[in-house]
Amino acid sequence: MSRQMKQNLTIAISKGRILKEALPLLSKIGIEPVEDLNTSRKLILQTNRAPIQVVVIRATDVPTYVEYGAADLGITGKDVLMEHGSDQLYEPLDLKIAPCRLMLAQIKGATQYLPQRRLRIATKYVNITQQYFNQRGEQVELIKLYGSMELAPLVGLADRIVDLVDTGNTLKANGLEPTELILPVTSRLVVNKASMKMKQAAILQLVTDLKEVL
Ligand code: ATP
Ligand code: PRP
Repeated sequence: MSRQMKQNLTIAISKGRILKEALPLLSKIGIEPVEDLNTSRKLILQTNRAPIQVVVIRATDVPTYVEYGAADLGITGKDVLMEHGSDQLYEPLDLKIAPCRLMLAQIKGATQYLPQRRLRIATKYVNITQQYFNQRGEQVELIKLYGSMELAPLVGLADRIVDLVDTGNTLKANGLEPTELILPVTSRLVVNKASMKMKQAAILQLVTDLKEVL
């Protein structure tokens, strides 16, 4: 076996819905965790392809692990990557899984009347939202939240929200409507730049295999 083949290859995968959709993709290219992810409490999972291991972490931590080389590859949403904003990662592949849209939303039927103060926007995505309004030349006040953004306009915390929309059910159930598309989102494969040099053959093989099954 060549030296390159013996090298570990660590893939950091966003837990939750992305993991659910990523596992069948990996399985199609012959990579399967040897333990049951639903029952295992292990954080590093070995796979049937011995040098390849998987770590399952929060979506927002994936770019950090890959940037620092703690993982060679990562799978997470374009929303997370844009918000993280690193140019230290290669993004060779759109895996087209976990599709959704990052949207501006408001209380249904709200008039476009602007308050005497800056428009208040609640979101987990403060960097993307700031860039979006900067490009439009509008000054807004951002309120950083970590979840349940839909609640903010209902209780007067914010005038608008920026959040992910898939079926639109969450917005609808809370009397909200989407008004502007900010970013179409799918999950991407990202690669650490040094790993790409040091483990090029193994990584390129994986990218080629994934491309074939997409
Ligand atoms: P955290 O673990 O940081 O709390 P989270 O709870 O938002 O994150 P998920 O809801 O699993 O984690 O979302 C992870 C990623 O999945 C998002 O960044 C996005 O790319 C995608 N995603 C989120 N919501 C949806 C959705 N409703 N439909 C499809 N994809 C989604
Ligand atoms: C995501 C997102 C929205 C919802 C949109 O939340 O933050 O609330 O999905 O999906 P829909 O348009 O199909 O209703 P998620 O289910 O991940 O919950 P959480 O982020 O609040 O944990």
